[in-house]
Amino acid sequence: MRAHALIFLGAPGAGKGTQAREVAKDCGIPQISTGDILREAAKKQTPLGLAAKAKMDAGELVPDEVVCGIVEERISEPDCRAGFILDGFPRTLAQAEFVDRALRAKGHGRPQVLNIEVDEDLLLKRLTGRRTCSVGGEIYNIYFNPPKRDGVCDKDGGKLLSRADDNEQAIRQRLEAYHHQTSPLIDYYRAQGVLHGVDGNKDPESIARELREFFARA
Ligand code: AP5
Repeated sequence: MRAHALIFLGAPGAGKGTQAREVAKDCGIPQISTGDILREAAKKQTPLGLAAKAKMDAGELVPDEVVCGIVEERISEPDCRAGFILDGFPRTLAQAEFVDRALRAKGHGRPQVLNIEVDEDLLLKRLTGRRTCSVGGEIYNIYFNPPKRDGVCDKDGGKLLSRADDNEQAIRQRLEAYHHQTSPLIDYYRAQGVLHGVDGNKDPESIARELREFFARA
């Protein structure tokens, strides 16, 4: 695979995290999820985390300068030299322009952008059905990938929790933010010739297989 920077684009619940984790393992490059970094900061109650938490719980985007700062710091770490996967970033035009500048400054080529497309009714089921292990972080879905015992992680017995922003009101706001602020990036990257559509309606294994085939050709 020649691409140095991969971007996973898609609506909330499209499966960006699920697929980015697999590709990161396959390619041996880190997955950088701005959502995970912000949630971790909120859990540790750092000033950044506390400021971001209110926005995240309401389903609104965290300000560009905050997330760009996080990404700038993370992609400067040694494990990103050979490449990295951005999961959930960029989400606004300003963030996309930041990525372009950062990649140029670091001597990386253009990013490859995987746009995961999923029907809206499926997105809702994926988000309302998501459960995350409070111990190891394993992700389940009560509709599509349920644990053997209700509310309990198969791997470590940890309690399974819903994410704070996976409630109906926050989901509505997240989808609105996606449609207004993030979906214009589809045209932005299409115009650069780096956009690749991925049918995200299929099961996770089929999507992962298609991505592997794509990277083998790239
Ligand atoms: P973030 O954590 O990035 O949330 P999101 O974009 O809403 O995406 P999700 O994590 O909900 O979905 P996903 O596409 O990763 O799907 P997943 O693989 O988990 O951001 C959260 C918040 O942080 C934002 O609202 C914002 O406030 C802030 N933030 C983050 N980045 C920011 C930025 N750049 N700028 C500003 N603010 C930012 O899958 C979802 C579920 O579906 C799981 O249960 C999974 O098991 C299941 N599933 C996945 N794939 C499939 C499949 N193919 N078939 C069946 N089930 C599937």
